[in-house]
Amino acid sequence: MQIVFAKGLTKDYGSLRAVDNIDFEILKGECFGFLGPNGAGKTTVMGIIYCFMPPTAGDVKIFGMDAAKNRSEIKSRIGVMPQEDNLDPDLTVLENLIVYARYFDISKKSSLPVSMELLEFVELKEKANVKIPSLSGGMKRRLILARALINNPELLILDEPTTGLDPHSRRSVWEKLNHLKSKGTTLILTTHYMEEAERLCDRVAIMDMGKIVTTDSPSGLVKKHGGNLEEVYLKLTGKQLKD
Ligand SMILES: Nc1ncnc2c1ncn2[C@@H]1O[C@H](COP(=O)(O)OP(=O)(O)OP(=O)(O)O)[C@@H](O)[C@H]1O
Ligand SMILES: [Mg+2]
Repeated sequence: MQIVFAKGLTKDYGSLRAVDNIDFEILKGECFGFLGPNGAGKTTVMGIIYCFMPPTAGDVKIFGMDAAKNRSEIKSRIGVMPQEDNLDPDLTVLENLIVYARYFDISKKSSLPVSMELLEFVELKEKANVKIPSLSGGMKRRLILARALINNPELLILDEPTTGLDPHSRRSVWEKLNHLKSKGTTLILTTHYMEEAERLCDRVAIMDMGKIVTTDSPSGLVKKHGGNLEEVYLKLTGKQLKD
């Protein structure tokens, strides 16, 4: 079953074409990754999928519904982990979840136990009553993941979920994401880490300059182009992943 269908998807910011006539589909229960250099258009595609902004042109269907017409229903079934940290620094860890739950009309009575459960899932229960500035970068990322799960989403959108994390924290996030996947949650992620793509993604789309260069499984790409995924990425985008 199709969770996301996009055809001819295009997004312009003024005279800049950030996403250029791309087609893709994402199936229920899969983890689909968007890979590509800075400015390729990955975050823009994610923003269109979670109905943050409309495309300039093209068709997008999410859960079989038109993104322009069914925005609030679509949003209620999606969880988003944005690229930037947008936690409220004046609130505690727990309050950040409870306040966010209000956007989904979840009452305080039910958001409290759900929030505590989620804090346990991301191993932050003992931090429930501390304010955001006293969390480490990895803890903030895990809290943002917990927040994205508050409405029990069918589709989880993860924009660079582990950027800036140390290898241990990164593995801990991978474990959580694999657990969600095993429960049937559909995942869409962007990453600059090829190991992350290989460990989590069933299929990836490699983007460059607003276009999808290729879509395949990580192992399929390696089989087709030779070398490892990092070498395939370099071959297809002409850009190194590291300095
Ligand atoms: N709100 C905006 N207004 C104007 N231009 C934008 C806006 N957001 C993104 N862009 C431009 O659109 C292009 C694609 O940006 P986008 O953030 O989608 O890339 P990305 O693939 O997510 O990159 P990164 O890996 O750096 O996160 C870039 O050229 C960027 O400068
Ligand atoms: Mg981005």
